[in-house]
Amino acid sequence: MGDMKIGKIAVIGAGNMGHQISLCCALAGLETTCIDVSEEQLQSAASFVKRYLPERVSRGKLSEEEAAEAEKRLRFTASLEQGAREVDFVIEAVTEKLDLKKDLFRRLDQICPPQAVLATNSSFFVSSLLAPETDRPDRVCNMHFFNPALVMKCVEVVKGVHTSAETAATAMALARSLGKKPVLLHKEIYGFLVNRILRRIMDEALYLLDTGVASAEDIDSAVVNALGHPMGPFTLMDLTGIDLSYHAAMERYRKSGDPADKPSPTVVEKYVKGEWGRKKGSGFYTYEK
Ligand code: 3HC
Repeated sequence: MGDMKIGKIAVIGAGNMGHQISLCCALAGLETTCIDVSEEQLQSAASFVKRYLPERVSRGKLSEEEAAEAEKRLRFTASLEQGAREVDFVIEAVTEKLDLKKDLFRRLDQICPPQAVLATNSSFFVSSLLAPETDRPDRVCNMHFFNPALVMKCVEVVKGVHTSAETAATAMALARSLGKKPVLLHKEIYGFLVNRILRRIMDEALYLLDTGVASAEDIDSAVVNALGHPMGPFTLMDLTGIDLSYHAAMERYRKSGDPADKPSPTVVEKYVKGEWGRKKGSGFYTYEK
């Protein structure tokens, strides 16, 4: 795995991305700790695992033994000190707030063994914003998974100027060992590869909705049935979280100062109302709890 062997991993954040990244790691044979400050979030992640593994077994996708082993390898804790003390690799997947991530990287740098790699799953903060918080900038990189992380094969590994070649190789090898198909970005760029491309689609879909050209349902239907995408842009925003769309656009606007980069009126309205998509029970569509 690069030159570095990864046996133990911590995933910070048990939310939308973190709980599935943790389970990917445990299924791939890594001793995994999923850490979150919220007991409620940890409970919800643990009950997902309790539902997901038996369902995979009943559908013949996993043996009972594989499921039991994965469950044994995955622990949940609210203690960063305990969960991250002995790990070889950390994937941070907490809320997209830069100060929170900076603080976490400072603490992780003190808690984790000096050789451990600290990767962020952020959708838009490049790791050079976090590396200076640590005494190991060469061991800091982006490792960006896609939602749902148990299913989507792509992982973007982004090498900042501070990231050593060995760290990038280790992150690529780790992703491959999880059964993913990682891609390497040789330099940092806002939105990486996929979200830059996706943004063009989302922005156009929101423009068509905001200007009353068509409904969210019909725009989604057109994208699925004309372009062959597995889901339309509004269904996808509900899956990834409208809060994320809002924060990503705000970050883009903060960087550029260009009003065209502000979140669309519909995204602002849904963000303010707390209609963040599936995780809240409503977004562009409504969902049963
Ligand atoms: N969690 C875990 N597994 C899930 C899942 C979920 N939420 N939803 C579906 N799956 C699994 C199913 O168990 C099934 O597994 P199997 O093939 O091994 O049996 C497989 O996915 C297919 O599921 P379904 O047949 O129920 O449904 P679909 O065929 O419609 O697939 C989907 C669902 C995989 C979500 C598909 O619609 C899809 O690929 N959608 C696009 C997702 C996408 O674009 N993701 C990227 C978003 S951008 C992003 O994440 C960037 C970040 O920065 C925000």
